[in-house]
Amino acid sequence: MNLYERNQKQRVFFNEKIDSYDDTHHTYMDTKKVLADNLDKDTIKILDLGAGTGLELIHLFELFPDARVTVIDITEKMLERLKQRDFSNKVETICGDFFEVDFGNEYDAVISTSALHHFKKDEKIKLYQKVYNCLKENGQFINCDKIALTDDVEENQLHELEHNIDNYKHIDTPLTVEHEIEILEKIGFKNIASSNVDKDDYKLIMSRK
Ligand SMILES: C[S@@+](CC[C@H](N)C(=O)[O-])C[C@H]1O[C@@H](n2cnc3c(N)ncnc32)[C@H](O)[C@@H]1O
Repeated sequence: MNLYERNQKQRVFFNEKIDSYDDTHHTYMDTKKVLADNLDKDTIKILDLGAGTGLELIHLFELFPDARVTVIDITEKMLERLKQRDFSNKVETICGDFFEVDFGNEYDAVISTSALHHFKKDEKIKLYQKVYNCLKENGQFINCDKIALTDDVEENQLHELEHNIDNYKHIDTPLTVEHEIEILEKIGFKNIASSNVDKDDYKLIMSRK
């Protein structure tokens, strides 16, 4: 199954999950709030990759009421839910695949949470290069996501993806934090730092252009 097909599988999965999504993710709210907590104080123009129903944006607009956010997300029902939120007039939504949609440019920050742990290393290099290209000089990339705790976990999940994807609705293939950092360094991001959040298999990874 190629990347396009896998991304469409994600779309089907999240469209089907819409009625339970916000309740299921309630215990993950701290992994979402850390994004806004770590933005530079003068941040205005933000790109959110995979905002889904917009849970991380609730806290973001509390801290940054003047922010202008562009969201790219492949799942139409998730975006319909986001558009019902009271801050939706400050959000532009683009329904599409990260690998196909133009990201635009001159963002103060690119943020993402729980949305980027389905891509292989070579795919992430392409994706993070797009992130780098769309940021202003010194702009922030703040990603809080699931990570593989060891190389073995990373390899086993990728093995499942290669050999058993048809048997699963959804396979997580997080990279280790070391591999995440390696990719960011390769692209040229600076000030790369990772820290723990309140879920053992999640990390906050921050960097700058
Ligand atoms: C687990 S949800 C996270 C939503 C939100 N960030 C949160 O933390 O509640 C992952 C989101 O990423 C989106 N997504 C996954 N792969 C994508 C892709 N290739 N292009 C665009 N959106 C994608 C899904 O549609 C989904 O809304």
